[in-house]
Amino acid sequence: MRVPLADVEIARARLLPLAPGGFEEADADDEVELRLYTDSAGEARVREVFGSVSSALVESGWEDRWRAFHRPVRAGGLWIGPPWETPPPDELAIVVDPGQAFGTGAHPTTQACIELLAAHERGSVLDAGCGSGVVAIAAARLGFGPVAGVDSDPVAVAAARANVALNGVGIEMLLADVLRDALPAADLLVANVDLPVVEALLARLPAVKAITSGYLAYEAPRVPGWELRAHLELDGWAADSLALS
Ligand SMILES: C[S@@+](CC[C@H](N)C(=O)[O-])C[C@H]1O[C@@H](n2cnc3c(N)ncnc32)[C@H](O)[C@@H]1O
Repeated sequence: MRVPLADVEIARARLLPLAPGGFEEADADDEVELRLYTDSAGEARVREVFGSVSSALVESGWEDRWRAFHRPVRAGGLWIGPPWETPPPDELAIVVDPGQAFGTGAHPTTQACIELLAAHERGSVLDAGCGSGVVAIAAARLGFGPVAGVDSDPVAVAAARANVALNGVGIEMLLADVLRDALPAADLLVANVDLPVVEALLARLPAVKAITSGYLAYEAPRVPGWELRAHLELDGWAADSLALS
């Protein structure tokens, strides 16, 4: 739907409950176009609230179109690629098929976490917000252990478990909310989530050391007791290595 610039705040507020997974915005002259991907029931709910909206069918196969862009990357001395690519025989490698979960390994926040992880003292790891499991699996391959992963999205936990099997590593992947549920004990927390979740999680003191990301280069978690030990920026994103003082 298109709304005048002056009304966009109100339109966003009305649309958000109908699109908890998010929506797109694009400038269109002196208006803003709000775009939502949904099914016919979702479309009916939007029409009920907004009246006139235009809609178009999305081509089938959109769920898997990302696969064409899933290319191997290197981070922390590891080759990280999709299962349909062949890892170089002389390199430490992991394969990841994120399915509908976050985490091909290509995102700067994921790469920065793995870089900081590779330089970190070895020990047990909790990957909070594990998505596809890419960071937890990288940790296991880099010699950390035991490693556990947690995500509140069942789709992510299923993908992470499948990736654990694909890589032949022993990692427990659990369905849990990192802000509310009991968490496995670990020396090192890795949390590539968003800044409010990172800060709330650090305040729970789930470990004595942490690698955090998921926020922009000009942002940083500020939580009493945690001191900065290392900082990395990649493509405008930040990752930090922290320790309890
Ligand atoms: C940006 S992805 C990171 C995935 C992967 N660790 C990586 O670095 O590529 C963040 C993940 O955190 C999960 N998440 C967000 N809030 C959470 C919460 N409160 N409890 C558990 N998982 C959460 C999301 O479902 C998502 O899979």
